[in-house]
Amino acid sequence: MSANRGEFSSRFGFIMAAAGSAVGLGNIWGFPTQTASNGGAAFVLAYLVLAFCLAYPAFMAELVIGRYGRANAVASLKKMSNKKWQHQFAFIIGFGGILCAALILSFYGIIAGWMMSYTLEPITTLIGINEASKWLTSQSTVPSLIFTTLFMGLTIYIIRSGVENGIEKWSKRLMPMLILLLICLIIYVMTLEGASEGLNAYLNPDFSKLIEPQLLISALGQAFFSLSLGTSVMIIYGSYISKKENLVTLGAQVTLIDVSIAFLAGLLVIPAMYVAQAQGLQIFSAEGNLISGPDLVFTILPSLFNGMGFIGSFVALAFFALMSIAALTSSISMLEAPVSYVVERFNLPRNKATLITSLLILSISILIILNMDSLFGFVVTLATEYGQPIIGMFCCIFIGWIWHRSKIIEELKQGYEELEQGLFWKIWPWYIKFICPLCISFVFLNSVL
Ligand code: PHE
Repeated sequence: MSANRGEFSSRFGFIMAAAGSAVGLGNIWGFPTQTASNGGAAFVLAYLVLAFCLAYPAFMAELVIGRYGRANAVASLKKMSNKKWQHQFAFIIGFGGILCAALILSFYGIIAGWMMSYTLEPITTLIGINEASKWLTSQSTVPSLIFTTLFMGLTIYIIRSGVENGIEKWSKRLMPMLILLLICLIIYVMTLEGASEGLNAYLNPDFSKLIEPQLLISALGQAFFSLSLGTSVMIIYGSYISKKENLVTLGAQVTLIDVSIAFLAGLLVIPAMYVAQAQGLQIFSAEGNLISGPDLVFTILPSLFNGMGFIGSFVALAFFALMSIAALTSSISMLEAPVSYVVERFNLPRNKATLITSLLILSISILIILNMDSLFGFVVTLATEYGQPIIGMFCCIFIGWIWHRSKIIEELKQGYEELEQGLFWKIWPWYIKFICPLCISFVFLNSVL
């Protein structure tokens, strides 16, 4: 481990970077979509509770591992191990998480590439090059290959500059832009006919849905994906936090931002769908559910924007720019996980490590694009439904059962002297030992069996 491995220069820098990782397509696309297909506000409520009660404690486990280890995920976990089997376990979890981040990036980059091409489309429409517009939104092989590569190029550009000049600098620029764009879009959509009906559908809870196991499973899965858990991303971001900072509050602030932006995205996307309905578009499937998934983002919303004429082009541009920015601040965190490992494990310069790692990931993306029907769903399921919960759960087990309580206290007390008097310390150790592993395994088994 090199001494000059980098650190976030400020609290704000860390919050923006970690919130940047957390806030992504999962919030702006995934959350509203899940809400739409799981009974509206009942899902929002379940999500809020699970995000704070289960995902936040697991998130804290990853941050603590990283800040204690001050190294990549594998090395940090190994530092906490004494026995041989613990070292092997540490390697499996750390490396598994890194692999998971790489796999997520390989499909995330493709979707982000589509977001970029949809951002350019309104410009070609305004200029009047209709052929180009069609090509940009075709999602066929060639544009997918080009835009995935372009998106990866942007991710590489940021990551090769390191923690402070890359991740932190860009997160500090992009996150405020994202929030501003989101708020402007919400305000605009609220002025349109049909929006209030959408607001009603979003905020009126159907409490009978709360007892459906599917709702809880989806809400926890969504919270895990959204907080980037089980991918070692938060371990590595934790390793760049100064020992002077209070981890407990930092973690809570990031969770709060993540949940709030998901909530705001719902205020945009669901009313926008009802505006689309008011304009004659079909927004319900044959079974009577709100259309979700790719059709929502790549068909209904673009048709809505198209129907708005000149102003619609600007709205479309703002919407897809918002999506692309959200994706970029997340993808840099996914690339940082393997890059930091390669730099520290093989003692390579950052530039070289970034290039090698991202070329490997890009090759997987290309394979997926060329075998979309068979590979895309497989990689998504493998990484998000298996990898993330299993690794996230093992991180909790590592902290709860393998690491010494006195060491955890020592680590958390740095930046938070009064730790033992606060509510967090009264609850968290139990959570991490029993409740998180049990709930995560229950939800996991339920979803895969
Ligand atoms: N949290 C990101 C989102 O919501 C996705 C992500 C998953 C980022 C795993 C990093 C690691 O889109």
